[in-house]
Amino acid sequence: MSEHILVERSGAVQVIRLNRAEKKNAITRAMYARMTAALAEAEEDPAIRCHVFLGVPGAFSAGNDLSDFLAVSTGEASDTGEVFEFLPTLAGCRKPVVSGADGISVGIGTTLHLHCDLTFATPETVFRTPFVDLGLVPEAASSLLMPHILGHQRAFALLGLGEGLSAQEALAKGLIYRVVAAQELEEAVFGAARTLAEKPPEALRITRSLLRGNRAEVSARLKEEAEHFRERLRSQEARDAFTAFMNRKKPK
Ligand code: COA
Repeated sequence: MSEHILVERSGAVQVIRLNRAEKKNAITRAMYARMTAALAEAEEDPAIRCHVFLGVPGAFSAGNDLSDFLAVSTGEASDTGEVFEFLPTLAGCRKPVVSGADGISVGIGTTLHLHCDLTFATPETVFRTPFVDLGLVPEAASSLLMPHILGHQRAFALLGLGEGLSAQEALAKGLIYRVVAAQELEEAVFGAARTLAEKPPEALRITRSLLRGNRAEVSARLKEEAEHFRERLRSQEARDAFTAFMNRKKPK
């Protein structure tokens, strides 16, 4: 539903705001489609010089909507292609991307930031990628980018063990740029985005491209992960995990 993604413009900055607080910003197929379109439009619009991703207080995102995954798993839906269109669009952005996370940042709520240039997080933020616990495999080229940033063992603790990473630890390891108080998050994100938007755009574009290195490897990994991911989505392991989440009893 379009109200779950708010696309706003502030000068030369386009903000994509995940806005489904009641579901901790779990991302549905329609939300991915809206984000993909917004990114693609802003990439083509010379008036926009920087992308921003934000969530709501307490939740950047609880990851992919698990009822969408369950529907694919049971055969009720044929595919969840929107996420696999969103990821290459994000990874292929030529303009800088700044993000701000407060609180819950699970699955793509963590891996999305691997494609950002500056990520701000609050002390309450915990990054988690429990793909294996869901019977799934990493996405967003996280199997390539996370070990590159964190080293194999810390990346494996996140992607294999499903351990969380606090904002402070993420900062120390270079996964994010800064930790700021929750009430300062938006100001910090917009400050950085506006500063980037004022830079000479072509020099910034080339600099970013040089820093990000060989993108062919990232594209290839996105495809390789997507093949495994799609196959695992239909596995019994995944179906059991999605069903367990949907049927879980909340503590009273
Ligand atoms: N997909 C679908 N719905 C989700 C969701 C997701 N990924 N994450 C949260 N929700 C829903 C919950 O079902 C609940 O809905 P309800 O109020 O109709 O029952 C609502 O959002 C609030 O979530 P809740 O679990 O009550 O909040 P919490 O603060 O206790 O826990 C999480 C938050 C993120 C720790 C927990 O919801 C969770 O583990 N979610 C799944 C995360 C995940 O595995 N994501 C997929 C990664 S690929």
